[in-house]
Amino acid sequence: MRNLTEHNVTEAVLQTLDKIQDARFKEIMTSLVKYLHTFVREVELTEAEWLAAIQFLTATGQMCNESRQEFILLSDTLGVSVLVDAINHRKVEGATVSTVLGPFYREGAAEVPPLHNIAGDTPGEPVVVFGQVTTPEGQPIPGALLDIWQASAQGFYDVQDTNQPEMNLRGKLRTDEAGRYIFRTIKPSSYPIPYDGPVGKMLNVMDRHPYRPAHIHFIVSAEGYQPVVTHIFVEGDPYLDSDAVFGVKDALIADFVRHDSPEEAAKYDISAPFYTVEYNFGLQPV
Ligand code: BEZ
Ligand code: FE
Repeated sequence: MRNLTEHNVTEAVLQTLDKIQDARFKEIMTSLVKYLHTFVREVELTEAEWLAAIQFLTATGQMCNESRQEFILLSDTLGVSVLVDAINHRKVEGATVSTVLGPFYREGAAEVPPLHNIAGDTPGEPVVVFGQVTTPEGQPIPGALLDIWQASAQGFYDVQDTNQPEMNLRGKLRTDEAGRYIFRTIKPSSYPIPYDGPVGKMLNVMDRHPYRPAHIHFIVSAEGYQPVVTHIFVEGDPYLDSDAVFGVKDALIADFVRHDSPEEAAKYDISAPFYTVEYNFGLQPV
C-alpha cells in the first residue's frame, strides 16, 4: 500500500475494510468510502473547499448542545431525514404516512380528557381537531394514544419561548370506544427552523428560506400497531411546496374549516370565529 495515486487510492482504502467482522458495518463503510471518493473525484474538490467543508462540519458540531442538534438539522435540510424515514416506514394503503419528528418533541406530556384545550391561555384562533384512529381497513382502534405538540401562533414551541408555560401546546389523548378523539387548540403558523447557526448560513448561501408550513405534530400509537410519527399540515399554507425540511405529503394536508357562528362556537366553549379540522389516522399492524 505505497505510491497511491488518484487512480488506486479508493481500492487501497476498500482493502483495509476486508477485516471488518460486522457484515452490516462493512457494507455501510464500503459504500460510504466509494461514494465519498466518487464525490471528491466528480467535483475535483480543491484544498480550500475541503478545508471549508471541515470547518463547516466543525462549526455544526460546536453548535450542538443538550437542546440543539445542528447535525439533525443538517440532515433535515438536505432531505436525508425524510429519506431515512420513508425507507424505514413503508406503509400499506390506508395507513397514515410518517414525516420528520423534528427537534421539539418532549416526552412527558400530560394525558388530557376529550375536548381539552392544549393551548391554555395562549393567544390564537381557536381550533377543534377531531377524527378517528382505525386499522388500514377502517376498523376503529379504541384506546389508541395520540401524543400531540405544536408551535404557538407566533411560531414558537414552549422550549423556545419564555412567555409560554412548561409543556404548553402539548398533550396526550386516548381514543374512545369508537376510536374517536377530539381536542381544542389554536391555529398553528408557519415558522422558521432554527437558522442562527451553520445550517442557517448554508440555507442562505443556497438561496433557500428556513420556513416550515404550519402544522400540528402527532405520534399515534396503539398496542399491536406500528406507531406513526407525523403531522397535519394546514391547507393553503404558502410554504407547503417549499418546506425547509421536505416533510410535506398531500395525504397529511387538512382543511381548517372556518366557522363564524357564535352558537356553534358555544358548543365547544370557545368564541367565534373558530376552525374545525377532521383528520383520521390509519395504523398498520406490527
Ligand atoms: C419541526 O417541525 O418541529 C421541525 C422539524 C425539522 C427541523 C426543525 C423543526
Ligand atoms: Fe414543528
